[in-house]
Amino acid sequence: MAETGVRKGRRRKAQETPMAKPVSQEPLSRENLVRLVQEAKAAAEADRIPQAPEVMRVPAEIYTDPMRFERELKLIFRRLPLVVTASAELKNPGDYKALTLAGAPILAIRGDDGDMRVFVNACPHRGANVALPGCGHAKRLTCPYHGWTFTREGTLIGVAQEKDFGAIDKAAHGLIPLPTLERAGLIWAILDPKSTLSIEAYLSGYDRALTHFGFANWLLFSQRTIPGPNWKIAYDGYLDLYHLPVLHKATFGPQMPSRALYQAWGPHQRVQSPAAHLIGEGAPPETSWDASVLMAGVWTIFPHVSIASFDAGGRGAMISLLTPGAHVGESFTTQLYLMEKEPTEQEAHRATEQFALLDYVVRREDYDTGLRQQQALAFGAREWVLFGRNEGGAQTFHGWVERLLSTDDEALAGLFAAETAPV
Ligand code: FES
Ligand SMILES: [Fe+2]
Repeated sequence: MAETGVRKGRRRKAQETPMAKPVSQEPLSRENLVRLVQEAKAAAEADRIPQAPEVMRVPAEIYTDPMRFERELKLIFRRLPLVVTASAELKNPGDYKALTLAGAPILAIRGDDGDMRVFVNACPHRGANVALPGCGHAKRLTCPYHGWTFTREGTLIGVAQEKDFGAIDKAAHGLIPLPTLERAGLIWAILDPKSTLSIEAYLSGYDRALTHFGFANWLLFSQRTIPGPNWKIAYDGYLDLYHLPVLHKATFGPQMPSRALYQAWGPHQRVQSPAAHLIGEGAPPETSWDASVLMAGVWTIFPHVSIASFDAGGRGAMISLLTPGAHVGESFTTQLYLMEKEPTEQEAHRATEQFALLDYVVRREDYDTGLRQQQALAFGAREWVLFGRNEGGAQTFHGWVERLLSTDDEALAGLFAAETAPV
């Protein structure tokens, strides 16, 4: 049985850091997407899934230890690119969203040049939120405390009662920008203004596959935020098909697949079930596989996102953005429900029903279970939890968490430069 835990980290030295590889921005070819699905088809044909070498055990305290939680915030959430929202939420210049992500107050706004920028949501005067939490559209950002104003690009242009206040160098007092990348219809930012980590390199080519969803042209249909347990309990669930026919028997039903194959681009993993519908008589030929076949499964983005597709009132996807809460036993998940096309009234009704079902499934089945799991682990009597050979995705996930906790800042970029993609 393999073990992982806070005590077993491997520290990479800066001098081992490999050179960053050039990163292609081209969408993955259809041929490569087909190849990824062929693996799921082959698993169905063979009636076998690739298994991890061993059952892994993980110390239960990784879910409950407040000190560990602080390290995860610092070494994972404050160092790695996080998804702020989908481009669909901020389509036009001046559209903004202010939110707290992993404890950091941030403000994403589309500039007059069409570029997305993400700032620390703290006014250079005395640190008030320049935009109140929520979404809006603004020609200029005006701080609600004393009325200083900023352009959509974060430049300070107005100091209230400037003569009385005294002279300051406006150019040196803009909003603090965070490293930002908009790609595949998603907006990433790093919560460290000084970070030099390449978001592209971090994505390890995963964005080239994600582009095939076409999210850049989709629209935001609805969203909500759901409280949950420790972020890793929630993320374990993203990678877990094993529970589907059991925990969700009353909603999705007992026919749901429970076996999974995992494909990894660096720390990011796509989860597919063996593609039984692609084998046997009447199965669609490869040449007819469309986006719903090619992009099937759950696409996770380390360390906090899960994307799943649905067909209800048109093609839709739920993007779950997980953020750690104020303490180790708390997280919040914002579910963005995106649709490929503007739905008709009838389609919108069906999409609303689907989203309501997903709300129930996640809130009442997944997270209620997770919150009780959190409480049971916090009791402390159970020292370990297990991930089976069929739960390779979670084994990989926990491996990455440990590796990140034991990697210093100098070696961080090297971790991702060394990663490969499955195609
Ligand atoms: S804190 Fe923003 S204007 Fe004073
Ligand atoms: Fe679930």
